[in-house]
Amino acid sequence: MKLLDGKKLSVEIKDEMAGEVSEIVKSGQRPPHLAAVLVGSNPASTFYVKSKVKNCKKIGFESTLIEKSADTSEAELLGIIDQLNQRDDIDGYIVQLPLPDHIDEERVNLAIDHRKDVDGFHPVNFGRMAQGMPAFLPATPYGILMMLERYDIDTTGKHCVVVGRSNIVGTPMSILMSRKNKPGNCTVTLTHSRTKDIGAELRRADIVIAAIGKPNFVTADMIKEGAVVIDVGINRVEDSSKKKGYRIVGDVDFDNVSPKCSYITPVPGGVGLMTVTALLKNTLHARNKSIYS
Ligand code: GUN
Repeated sequence: MKLLDGKKLSVEIKDEMAGEVSEIVKSGQRPPHLAAVLVGSNPASTFYVKSKVKNCKKIGFESTLIEKSADTSEAELLGIIDQLNQRDDIDGYIVQLPLPDHIDEERVNLAIDHRKDVDGFHPVNFGRMAQGMPAFLPATPYGILMMLERYDIDTTGKHCVVVGRSNIVGTPMSILMSRKNKPGNCTVTLTHSRTKDIGAELRRADIVIAAIGKPNFVTADMIKEGAVVIDVGINRVEDSSKKKGYRIVGDVDFDNVSPKCSYITPVPGGVGLMTVTALLKNTLHARNKSIYS
């Protein structure tokens, strides 16, 4: 069994990006600039947004964090989005999800200029991705593709089973893994909460992508010998032996599943770090106008 080391890989890719940024700056141009909008103070969202901003700084990107209180109106948020769409000094931005209940996430998503949608959530980017056109890919699936590519994992003709059909991970991942691409070219099964027997589907998988948000959901009896297992889950479980009172586990029962795998991602230290790296990569694409001129 080999670990797919998201920590090592994200450092490697971020170093490459830092090199590109210094070339951009040396040539007299401004560095890439990512903005993030955070509404409210959900602890997980606050943590993720701050980590995105911190990572920008590390590789020489500019970043702007716009923090608004949880009672911010939808109209005010749409006003901020309008300004971000218009600012020439900002290449891309994200609105951290989830938003408070009184704000319509769909309306917000549609208001984002797709040319600045480095989250890849806007239907224009989603549609372009589905048709194999240049697009901002959603960060987690993009991070997983980079991981498969850099570890040279052969996906062609393999059976990939995705667990979870979210708009952010499961659904786009299933599309990308089936596209005529490398990585890609898989036969894909997308499983979800109404799938009759997820275990039976998983047992046929050469590649498993678990993104269901349930701690230790994928157990050893569901895994074929030699499978590649990608664990997207970041779940808090109570643990009184930890200072914080909890620890982070994935969607996969790592201890029992890992001996059966050819490759597996750890949690933490796997997909999560690649997600931030992929967002930075999208911001660099936005700065270089490599997707939309
Ligand atoms: N909430 C959970 N994941 C994400 C993400 O990738 N982007 C944004 N904007 N919000 C999220």
